[in-house]
Amino acid sequence: MNQDTLKQQVAQAALEYVPEGQIIGVGTGSTANFFIDGLAGMRERIRGAVASSDASARRLAGHGIRLFDLNEVEELPVYVDGADEIDASFAMIKGGGAALTREKIVSAVARRFVCIADASKKVEVLGRFPLPVEVIPLARAQVSRAIALLGGRPVWREGVVTDNGNVIIDVHDLRITEPLKLEESLNQIVGVVTSGLFAHRPADVLLLGTAEGVKRFER
Ligand code: A5P
Repeated sequence: MNQDTLKQQVAQAALEYVPEGQIIGVGTGSTANFFIDGLAGMRERIRGAVASSDASARRLAGHGIRLFDLNEVEELPVYVDGADEIDASFAMIKGGGAALTREKIVSAVARRFVCIADASKKVEVLGRFPLPVEVIPLARAQVSRAIALLGGRPVWREGVVTDNGNVIIDVHDLRITEPLKLEESLNQIVGVVTSGLFAHRPADVLLLGTAEGVKRFER
């Protein structure tokens, strides 16, 4: 079974977590895209969606799903999104698609975070996937030096500008055994907008696509 089929299956399974008549939070990336396409089939049964990126907003709108600004919404019953890595405590690395900041903001408002991922994303220790950090452009070099002091190898993702007009630094060579602490340390660096480490807001539900079918885990 290829990775896309696994992504499609978890995206389909996530539709069961979408409550009728409500506004839901929608993530970004190839797995989230399958979810958005699935959502199209039930668009009459939801009020609409808050998107975590311009790309997802365009895809949702293309399916005729009504978009809401997060400022119009006090709480979301559910946020559905993929991950680049997820560990046993449901802490995640996200941001491979550079949408980490809006993903973190939208998921912070959600009662339940449903992570949809193929089996390759489940890891013992986070860090093999380079950790994306969104940075104010002016602070790129300074933040890179501070990240190096934390033990990571910062690499500027050249040519990428986020939806918020910032740049991405991917941090290689990390072995994240204490995700909560590292997230806090990164948040302390002046010029960092957000890190792609989701430890303080981990997933609540993990739908994992495996060759044996979709496995469900709850925190
Ligand atoms: C987008 O910025 C990311 O956080 C994605 O959620 C993550 O990269 C997973 O993407 P895929 O579903 O494409 O693997």
